[in-house]
Amino acid sequence: MSILLSGGAGYIGSHTAVALLQAGQDVVIADNFCNSSPKVLDRIEAITGKRPALIDADLCDREAADAIFRSHTITGVVHFAGLKAVGESVQKPLLYYRNNLDSALTLLEVMQAHGCRQFVFSSSATVYGDQPAPLHEDSPTGGCSNPYGWTKFMIEQILLSACAADPALSVVLLRYFNPVGAHESGLIGENPNGIPNNLMPYITQVAVGRREKLTIFGNDYPTPDGTGVRDYIHVVDLANGHLAALNYCAAHTGCEIFNLGTGHGVSVLEMVETFESVNHVAVPHVIGPRRAGDLATVYASAEKAERMLGWKAEKTLADMCRDSWNWQSKNPNGY
Ligand code: NAD
Ligand code: UFG
Repeated sequence: MSILLSGGAGYIGSHTAVALLQAGQDVVIADNFCNSSPKVLDRIEAITGKRPALIDADLCDREAADAIFRSHTITGVVHFAGLKAVGESVQKPLLYYRNNLDSALTLLEVMQAHGCRQFVFSSSATVYGDQPAPLHEDSPTGGCSNPYGWTKFMIEQILLSACAADPALSVVLLRYFNPVGAHESGLIGENPNGIPNNLMPYITQVAVGRREKLTIFGNDYPTPDGTGVRDYIHVVDLANGHLAALNYCAAHTGCEIFNLGTGHGVSVLEMVETFESVNHVAVPHVIGPRRAGDLATVYASAEKAERMLGWKAEKTLADMCRDSWNWQSKNPNGY
């Protein structure tokens, strides 16, 4: 009896694989490695002493997805597989809608055919659009500013409809805020292709000398220091949230939504200063114009996950900065 992690070779999936294996669960990873490396399996094994089963498969391929369920007894699925680059989704919307919607629908159909009913979905705070913080699970959704965000919104709608039609289904939608950090071993971490879009990998690549300087996108937001505020969450805390969600799925039916965040906002300048002081390394930076589509302030209400899942983020901003740097400095060019 195994948990299937679709996209489990990626950043969040690999940390979740470690958490599940350490909790004594059997894990099957299915990934097409379009944004990850099979080398992550060696690293997961080095950390846990266990090697998850690996299936090289595109989850949009119905036959390949079906074969996973024929060869393994899958009791629950965590669906990480998806494309996630906001800017690329604007350039290539059809690719994003096809890959993200098709992989979710294919997995759900195959699960139905095999009587597997527990599904945890990687959604995103982006579904809240520009609603004011703190964001609650019942805050209005929609109004996404890019196709990536709409894929998350649409998959949430698909899952709500599927649960309404089948009372035996058990679905948890996890809306992640801003995952950063890495496993404390420095063996697994975030490994973006090309120029990073996100703040933390950009900071670590500047600190390690791969990029000259960080550009802070605007210092004229209505925030305490003028720079954007986000709810950064350590990826190991996030991974543990999936364990809690799977336990919840096993004990409940229906569709439940949880934010996974800390409930605290941190500004870009605060992040840069904390990174520099914790790691004793310089992050040269300049102030540039705002980035189109960015919001001033995004942070979660983290109360529901604590109350209903018994989960809350434990790690500090200093932990996030230390572990991101540990990963980057040990793996300056990724895997
Ligand atoms: P990631 O790119 O590191 O991992 C996604 C994995 O899915 C990759 O290994 C990729 O190769 C795989 N994949 C993509 N399409 C596939 C397909 N059709 N078949 C098989 N494998 C496929 O991304 P991540 O940061 O680990 O994110 C995991 C999930 O969480 C994604 O769905 C993402 O949208 C969501 N999410 C991420 C963030 C974030 O900031 N990292 C925030 C909110 C939500
Ligand atoms: N930032 C910079 N310079 C950079 C990169 C980012 O100043 O080089 C700033 C941004 O303006 C923002 C903050 O750092 O204020 C965080 O930016 P990220 O790109 O790291 O994260 P976002 O909050 O913009 O986006 C993230 C995910 C999206 C997801 C969204 C949900 O990348 O996939 O959270 O809220 F949709």
